[in-house]
Amino acid sequence: MIIVPGPASTDLARRTAALSGFPVCELAFKYQPDGESYFRFLTDMKGKEVAVIQSTSPPQDRNLVQLLLLCSGARQRGAKAITAVVPYMAYARQDKMFMEGEVVSLSSVLQALTAVGVERLITVNVHSPKAFTNAGFSFSNESAVPPLCTALAKRGLKNPVVVTAGKEGGKIAAQACDIMGAEHVVARTSRDRLTGVVEVRLDREELRGRDVAAVDDIISTGGTMIEIVRQLKAAKASRIFVGAVHLLLVRNADKKLFQTGAHILLGTDTVPSKYSGVSVAEILSRALVTAP
Ligand code: R5P
Repeated sequence: MIIVPGPASTDLARRTAALSGFPVCELAFKYQPDGESYFRFLTDMKGKEVAVIQSTSPPQDRNLVQLLLLCSGARQRGAKAITAVVPYMAYARQDKMFMEGEVVSLSSVLQALTAVGVERLITVNVHSPKAFTNAGFSFSNESAVPPLCTALAKRGLKNPVVVTAGKEGGKIAAQACDIMGAEHVVARTSRDRLTGVVEVRLDREELRGRDVAAVDDIISTGGTMIEIVRQLKAAKASRIFVGAVHLLLVRNADKKLFQTGAHILLGTDTVPSKYSGVSVAEILSRALVTAP
């Protein structure tokens, strides 16, 4: 197997290659004067199994097109099998028609991946894994919650409570509570599909004076987590340690989180940022060496 490092995940791809022992493909990359992405493979791809590692974090559309170009290009160069390793999977939250007439974007993205010859997709804490079951290629959804919570636990929480939200909250809670040896409090959330405003209902009784690990799969606009932090403060929780696998942090969500009372913010390198204290390289390298 050979690893193709996509521009959105160069460091992560190199770390994954180092851990798995697979070589990294040499690639020339530039933007054309009109903004198009240009790639040239400098390593022979003929007959090779290829893993293209490229997150589709913001700017999603650009990173997605680059992923498609790299998969399709590897095929054009004679690659035998293509695995797309997409640490953050864009469009996964538009996995169905919530309102009449909406495009089911995830389904379009999966069709595009199939069209460029992807035979296997490896991703991390994707929003709705069920939506990938009929994608037409093999699919693995790895969890970065254990290393994220292990890193959070090292920050010295006292008498901690785990608070989780959202659709994947149950699974995340089970892993987080296990690792942190903590009880769980659920934040029930609902989002207005038109305004995007998130309503959070939190059982406040057990929170007074306790450190909280508020864990989610993703912080995008921060609407959900900021409201959770606000309610935790109102419930007189002590320090609030916020952790999420994918930190998109749209519109200064990090700043707003700290202003609302978050003590720390920790994420992974599925979406690189200054808060990416945890790497998913080990998880990806393990998935790559495991047969689908
Ligand atoms: C919801 O199901 C997810 O777990 C997240 O809570 C949500 O998608 C985060 O989005 P935002 O940061 O925009 O509220």
